[in-house]
Amino acid sequence: MSLLFSPLTLRDVTFRNRLWVAPMCQYSALDGVPNDWHHVHLAQFASGGAGLVVAEATAVVPEGRISPQDVGLWNDAQRDAWARVVAAVHARGARAGLQLAHAGRKASTWSPFSGEHGTVPAEAGGWTTVAPSAIAYEGYAEPVALDEAGIQRVVDAFRAAARRAIDARFDVLEVHAAHGYLLHEFLSPLSNQRDDAWGGSLENRARITLEVVRAVRAEVGEDVPLLVRFSASDAAPGGLEPDDIAQVSRWAVEAGADLIDVSSAGLVAHQELKVGPGYQVPFAARVRELSDAPVGAVGIITTGTQAEAILQAGHADVIFAAREWLRDPHFGLRAATELGEDPEGLWPPQYLRAFRRPS
Ligand SMILES: Cc1cc2nc3c(=O)[nH]c(=O)nc-3n(C[C@H](O)[C@H](O)[C@H](O)COP(=O)(O)O)c2cc1C
Repeated sequence: MSLLFSPLTLRDVTFRNRLWVAPMCQYSALDGVPNDWHHVHLAQFASGGAGLVVAEATAVVPEGRISPQDVGLWNDAQRDAWARVVAAVHARGARAGLQLAHAGRKASTWSPFSGEHGTVPAEAGGWTTVAPSAIAYEGYAEPVALDEAGIQRVVDAFRAAARRAIDARFDVLEVHAAHGYLLHEFLSPLSNQRDDAWGGSLENRARITLEVVRAVRAEVGEDVPLLVRFSASDAAPGGLEPDDIAQVSRWAVEAGADLIDVSSAGLVAHQELKVGPGYQVPFAARVRELSDAPVGAVGIITTGTQAEAILQAGHADVIFAAREWLRDPHFGLRAATELGEDPEGLWPPQYLRAFRRPS
C-alpha cells in the first residue's frame, strides 16, 4: 500500500488517505451563506477520493471577507447551510474541514471574475479594512490599525466561528495565518510596525495567532484536529523566512495545533517567488525538520507519483492540492489507480464500472 493512500489519525479523527483538498475561495456566496454551488463543488472532491476536503477561507466577521461574495460563519444561518455541505462530504467518505479566516487589509476586494481590481468602495458594498498597522497592500485602500479591544474581538470571533463549525459537524478546522491576510499581517515585520505587545519581536508578532489557536482549541476540546496554514516565506527583502515560521509552528503546536499546512507568500505585491512543480515542498520540509510538527505540502502537486515521492522522502506528512482538483475532481481516484491501489472502498460503487475497463 502507498503512503499516500494509508490512513492517518490526528486526535480522534481518522482520514482514509493523505491526499487532501486545499481551501479554495469561490466568491459565490450571498451574505456569507454557502449555497448549491459550494455543496456540489466540495462534495465532488469527496466522490473523487479525497481524504479531507477543506472548505475555503471562511470569514469569522463580515469585515474579514476577502470579497463581498465570500462565505462566513458569524451567524446561525451560515452554520446551518454549512451543515448541509458537511453532510454531503461525509456521505461520500471524506472528512470535512473548514478554514477560519480574517482577510485584514486584503479584505473588501473585488472577486477575481468581477472584471474590477483593488478595493471595493463603500457605495459598491465595500467596507473599511483593519490591520496591525495603517499600511496598505500595494494598490488597496489604507487599513485602520486595530486597537487592543479590536484585537480581542478578532480572537473572540475565531472562537465563536469554531463553535459554529463544530456544531455544523466539521471534523477539522484550519486557522488561516497565510497569504497576507490578518494573522500573517501581524506575523510579518513588513506589515506589522506596532510598538506594543502585538508587534516588534517574533514572539509579539505571533501573539495574536497563538491566542487564536489557544481560543479555538479551548472551544473545540481535545478531540478535534486543528491545522494552521502559514506562509513560510514572504519572498521579499526583510520579510519572514522559513526558520521564523518553524519557530512559530513550534509555538502553535504548544498552543494546541496538530499539523502545519505550509504555503508561502501573498503579503506584498512586490514578492518574488519561483513557481514550479512542488515549489513549496522545500518550505514544508524545513518547517517539519526544525519544528518537529507534522506538516502538509502544497503547490503544483499534480500526480499520485509526485505526491507519493514527497511523502516517501519524509518532506511532508500529508499532501494538499488545489487546482488539480479543479481540473479533475476525481484526482484522488486517478492518483490511486496510478499507484496501483485497490479500487474497493475508495471508488464509489456507482463508478466501479469505469474502473474495470473492458479488456
Ligand atoms: C481558486 C483558488 C482559490 C483559493 N482560495 C484559497 C483560500 O481560500 N485559502 C487558502 O489558504 N488558499 C487558497 N488558495 C490557494 C490554494 O489553497 C493552494 O495553496 C494554491 O493554489 C497552490 O496549490 P495548487 O498548485 O495545488 O493549486 C486558492 C487557490 C485557488 C486556485
